[in-house]
Amino acid sequence: MLLVRRTGPVRVAAHRRMRGAGCAWGRMNGTAQIVIDRVSHTYRPARGRAVLALSDVSLEVRPREFLALLGPSGCGKSTLLYLVGGFLPTETGRILVEGKPVVKPGPDRGIVFQHFALFPWKTVRSNILYGLERQKLPPAERTKRAQDFINLVGLAGFEDSYPSQLSGGMKQRTAIARTLAFDPNILLMDEPFGALDAQTRSLMQTELLNIWKRTPKTVIFVTHDVQEAVYLADRIAVMSARPGRIKTIVENKFGERDASILRSKEFVERVDEIWNLVRDEAIKAQETKAP
Ligand SMILES: Nc1ncnc2c1ncn2[C@@H]1O[C@H](COP(=O)(O)OP(=O)(O)OP(=O)(O)O)[C@@H](O)[C@H]1O
Ligand SMILES: [Mg+2]
Repeated sequence: MLLVRRTGPVRVAAHRRMRGAGCAWGRMNGTAQIVIDRVSHTYRPARGRAVLALSDVSLEVRPREFLALLGPSGCGKSTLLYLVGGFLPTETGRILVEGKPVVKPGPDRGIVFQHFALFPWKTVRSNILYGLERQKLPPAERTKRAQDFINLVGLAGFEDSYPSQLSGGMKQRTAIARTLAFDPNILLMDEPFGALDAQTRSLMQTELLNIWKRTPKTVIFVTHDVQEAVYLADRIAVMSARPGRIKTIVENKFGERDASILRSKEFVERVDEIWNLVRDEAIKAQETKAP
């Protein structure tokens, strides 16, 4: 089954990589850490119409894998992360983490929400410490750990500021620090760098790769930035327009990931290939009428 609607050498290359993945949906014969199995999700707001956000989504993620999720606005990327995070109930299909069904949020899964979700009444330091409260660390160690992550995201000097006193990018960095500080095995990141300027974004990408190399984490990373996905991820799942489905999965192995790959021919071609897949869906999403 050929799922990539492209012609020429790129199409052939993409087809080979997808076959290499085992199958287009990335099933991995029992070695997956996260199993999303035929999951659909319908929002039923108290007012207005029901919205089918996800339809029959199946996806498996290996331990320590960095998976990027791309797709047009409204295709259900955030919904999928909320389900894996346990913030929404799985009503149709099943989601397993380490073989166990997800029923609620847990310290094994850290989520960076698309809209930061900081406590407005807490300072930067207190927001980050909040994530550490459940860990049984001595208070001095907790404070040190919070400070390390404040420094890491470049917020030294703003420890006592409240979210209302921060720019969008600073709020986002606080949210990232809060999640990284409690060191979850699984990171669910919903456009975590979306509000950052290009320079800070590039620094944060490098830091995230460093953290990911140092500590064994599995990452599901939602982004609209194709170049970011190709730079960071081992595999890239492209979702269809709403109702979201996994349209295709592309293996995205490069040797050592550093800034030098950004200029390589292989990298530029991969970005182009993925961008074409995403663009098809973005056009469909624009043509799609309300539910
Ligand atoms: N609380 C809700 N009530 C009703 N419908 C919702 C709710 N949250 C999301 N939706 C609908 O579900 C669909 C998927 O939303 P979701 O936020 O998961 O998309 P997304 O892919 O993350 O989009 P974006 O890229 O813009 O962040 C959208 O059509 C949206 O309108
Ligand atoms: Mg979203």
